[in-house]
Amino acid sequence: MKGRKVNGWAARDSSGILSPYSFHLRKTGPEDVVFKVLYCGVDHTDLHQIRNEIHSTTYPLVPGHEVVGKVIEVGRDVKKFGVGDRVGVGCMVGSCGECARCKTNREQYCPNMVFTYNDIYKDGSFTQGGFSSAMVVHQNYVVNIPEQLAPEQAAPLLCAGVTAYSPLKQFIGSKKGIKAGILGLGGVGHMGVLIAKAMGHHVTVISSSNKKREEALTDLGADCFLVSSDSAEMKKFANSLDYILDTVPANHQLQDYIPLLDVEGKIFVVGAVPEPLQFSASGLILGRTSISGSFIGSIEETQEILDFWVEKGLKTMVEVVKMDYVNKAFERMEKNDVRYRFVVDVAGSNLE
Ligand SMILES: NC(=O)c1ccc[n+]([C@@H]2O[C@H](COP(=O)([O-])OP(=O)(O)OC[C@H]3O[C@@H](n4cnc5c(N)ncnc54)[C@H](OP(=O)(O)O)[C@@H]3O)[C@@H](O)[C@H]2O)c1
Ligand SMILES: [Zn+2]
Ligand SMILES: [Zn+2]
Repeated sequence: MKGRKVNGWAARDSSGILSPYSFHLRKTGPEDVVFKVLYCGVDHTDLHQIRNEIHSTTYPLVPGHEVVGKVIEVGRDVKKFGVGDRVGVGCMVGSCGECARCKTNREQYCPNMVFTYNDIYKDGSFTQGGFSSAMVVHQNYVVNIPEQLAPEQAAPLLCAGVTAYSPLKQFIGSKKGIKAGILGLGGVGHMGVLIAKAMGHHVTVISSSNKKREEALTDLGADCFLVSSDSAEMKKFANSLDYILDTVPANHQLQDYIPLLDVEGKIFVVGAVPEPLQFSASGLILGRTSISGSFIGSIEETQEILDFWVEKGLKTMVEVVKMDYVNKAFERMEKNDVRYRFVVDVAGSNLE
């Protein structure tokens, strides 16, 4: 059933160019929260999706999955949120609620998880994202934005932040000093540096060029900066890391990075590289290395990272833009020209 009419910006084809698009939200159900969108982060996954590089895209597609908004209506059974509350939504808006993964707070891995956009909701409607004037989301997939956090600061935590936090959380309480590697200093990578530093890790950024060296060491507080094409430096760092958070969105050779790991080191692949990644078996075997993937975080972890940000006094590095700049923002993101996350001021933009 059709609910309120909203205005968003949508991609119409694999050129990925966004333009104004109006559509209807679903009707507000008893457990739904309706909110006016204030800000929405721009993730590289949005770029992959509008270009139809991953998960077969259905057009028109309204992207955006780092969404902060203000509640304007709640269904009759909503207990957790009220009108006027500041709320957030990340990558998922549904899951079955009954499988072992859902019951153990790992609903992001539910086989019936529903993506915030480019997916079919339980009622058969097509999901659309946060580059839109309003959204309707089931209360179980909505988080509270702490009042100490500015909304544009909070937005990137809802995907990039929790994506870095979820795999790194396992090191909390570790007695040994952890040596971290953050591969790719973009939206997710800069969150990775801030989180790893706040957890007390010794952090090495591994970057494709020297361009971000100064700001990584000064603004983000990284301890070391390594350029991946500098083979002499790469050799010096051999066996030095306990883990690498791999955020690179394009094809790269994992075997170039495996030698950086100490024995039993771990690579967490979070970059959604469209092509298959390759590595040599012997490199893996000889270091007892593990390669694992990680997908965003649970709703519980999403709330945790928001609270962690407040507790540690961290500051997201964002460039706030209006919606009419979003195509340019994608272009600049592709050229690796963003420090470090674009956030669209949706409420302050003309969407029509
Ligand atoms: N697993 C998950 O749940 C999850 C969640 C969010 C995002 N992602 C994925 O994670 C990846 C990173 O997302 P993001 O938003 O952080 O992207 P981003 O802001 O574009 O950052 C990617 C960084 O990777 C490095 N890079 C190396 N080679 C590159 C190339 N050929 N093209 C572009 N960048 C290159 C760059 O850092 P340097 O300048 O330091 O080399 C760049 O800043 C994407 O694939 C995205 O889809 C996955
Ligand atoms: Zn489930
Ligand atoms: Zn994302």
